Amino acid sequence: MSKATALAHPNIALVKYWGKRDVALNLPAAPSLSLTLAGMETRTTVEFDASFDSDHAQINGAVLRGPKLARLSDFLERVRQMSGEDRFARIVSENTFPTAAGLASSASGFAALATAATQAAGLELGSEELSVLARLGSGSAARSILGGFVEMRAGERVDGQDSFAVQVADANHWDLRCIVAITAEGEKSVGSTDGMMDTMLTSTFYDAWIAGVYDDMPVARQAILERDFMALATVAERSCLRMHASAIAADPGILYWNPTTVRLIHRIRRARKDGLPVFFTIDAGPHVKVFCEASDRSAVEAILKSTEGVLGTLSTRPGAGVSIG
Ligand code: PMV
Repeated sequence: MSKATALAHPNIALVKYWGKRDVALNLPAAPSLSLTLAGMETRTTVEFDASFDSDHAQINGAVLRGPKLARLSDFLERVRQMSGEDRFARIVSENTFPTAAGLASSASGFAALATAATQAAGLELGSEELSVLARLGSGSAARSILGGFVEMRAGERVDGQDSFAVQVADANHWDLRCIVAITAEGEKSVGSTDGMMDTMLTSTFYDAWIAGVYDDMPVARQAILERDFMALATVAERSCLRMHASAIAADPGILYWNPTTVRLIHRIRRARKDGLPVFFTIDAGPHVKVFCEASDRSAVEAILKSTEGVLGTLSTRPGAGVSIG
């Protein structure tokens, strides 16, 4: 078969990934831990065909050119080398959520692309191998190969073969909700690749940030296994704020937040103080992702929607890993 379609979901990190130990191989400097989310998805079809004279790609109907196409073509080149496939390919991808708005489209995008491209090239890879491949496209994509609560291992090998994602608990383990509060339109100002690089090279807080991740990982893993919401809230907010602190301390400082982001941080902390089990996390963009138990979803949505500057909300739940078809 030289054509295949794969479906993948984004994921939201509870212990953040922000920094690389090897830039060329896209190897993370520290582990991370995330939840794969149903309610948003990427569906990608890859077809190798002898009649194509170059790789083509389109996302949500827009044809990619220049560096964006080159990034996907480089990725396909790895799949060609692994499989012996020598034809060019066409990639057609659709996202059901805004691309490049800090909503982790690269995670579901490269997870779906790794799966569809290897399948179309006739390779049958296990989840560890798929995760290693997806990681080469985007670090967080390695985690979207698997469903539920997922841990990304930093690994130690120079070739990165031990840097892949493993499942901590499946999507049915804990019925959490993650509600995304959209606080801006359009693409983020500094992409995660550049933001990470600037932080690594210039932030005086970078080493402290990385060291702290190793303390947060076992705490977050245990909180998930025990379904201890308040323990998870504490470690997830800490990880988010320390990641952003490391970026803010770059030179020049990188600030992903807008006034609405900050307003939401205060609203959520106040709601928690008033007894509502809720916490926030924020990635390389201004949107705020808010976690709660399923029974508190409407109360949390009401708070987010009534906060000045919130443009809309998207409600998600624990989701499955990548699938074919
Ligand atoms: O996978 P990348 O290179 O887009 O980096 C993801 C970085 C964060 O979303 C900010 C954190 C994370 O762990 O997902």
